[in-house]
Amino acid sequence: MTYNEMGPIGVFDSGFGGLSILREIRKVLPERDYIFLGDNARAPYGVRSYQLVYEFTLQSVKYLFEQGCPLVILACNTASAKALRTIQQNDLPGLDATRRVLGVIRPTVESLGTITKTGHIGVFGTPGTIQSESYNIEIAKMYPDYQVFGHACPMWVPLVENRESDGDGADYFVSKDINGLLAMSDKIDTVILGCTHYPLLINKIHKFMPPHIRVIEQGGIVAESLKDYLVRHPEMSSRCTRGGSCRYLTTENAERFSSMASLFTGEDVVASHVTL
Ligand code: DGL
Repeated sequence: MTYNEMGPIGVFDSGFGGLSILREIRKVLPERDYIFLGDNARAPYGVRSYQLVYEFTLQSVKYLFEQGCPLVILACNTASAKALRTIQQNDLPGLDATRRVLGVIRPTVESLGTITKTGHIGVFGTPGTIQSESYNIEIAKMYPDYQVFGHACPMWVPLVENRESDGDGADYFVSKDINGLLAMSDKIDTVILGCTHYPLLINKIHKFMPPHIRVIEQGGIVAESLKDYLVRHPEMSSRCTRGGSCRYLTTENAERFSSMASLFTGEDVVASHVTL
C-alpha cells in the first residue's frame, strides 16, 4: 500500500488520555494539522498482554498511515512501553521506512536530568507500563546512577474515565497509591505521571503529594520534544501539513467520545466513529 506523502500528525491513545498530550502539542505547534485516534472500544490497554497491546497499536498506526500521517505519536505509555520498539524495528521497514512512530517515555526520561537532586525517581503507571519496566530500562540507559521505584495505579484510569477525578473515591485511591510509592524510598524527589490519563487527577495528586516532591506531567515535555524533533528533521517537518486543523476519531461511540474529550481538551470536540 502506498500512502500520501504529506499529511497531518497522527496522535494515538487507547482512549482519552492522549488528549492531554495533544492539547499541549497543539499549544506549541498550533499551525500543524492533526488526527487524534482513540481506540476506546478496546481500552483500557493497561491490563492487556504484550501481544494484544502490540496488535492493537500496530492496527492503529497503519490506520493513521492510511490517513496520510507521515508521523505518529503514541500518546500512551502502555503502547509506548509494549509496542513501540517492535513497530519501529520490525514493522516500519515493511510498511514505509520513511514514516516515523515516536513514543512518550524517552522524552519524559530525558527531562529528569535537570529536575532530580537525589536521583530517586518514582513512576506511577498502569499495571502494564510498570510490569514492562520500560521506565527503569530507559532511565538506566541515560542515568545509570538513578534508582527507579515503579508503582501501578490500576484504579486511576477508571476514576478518570468515569468522571470521578474530583470525587471522594479519587481521594482514597490517590492517597493510597502515593503512600504506597513513597514507602519504597524516603529519597524520592521526583515522580513521573507515566500514564496520559493521570494529569486529570493532578488536583488530587497535589493534595496528597508532599510539596518538596516534583510531579512530572508529560504533555509539555512531549510537545517540546516534538517541536525539537521537527527542527532537527526538516525532511519530516516539510511532510507534516500546516492548516491548524484537528480531527478526532474513535473506535467507540462518537457522541460519548465528544462529550468526554472536551474534559481533556477544554474545548468543544466533534468526533467520528471509525472501524480499524
Ligand atoms: N493512556 C494510557 C497510558 O498512558 C492508559 C490507559 C489504558 O490503560 O488504556 O498508559
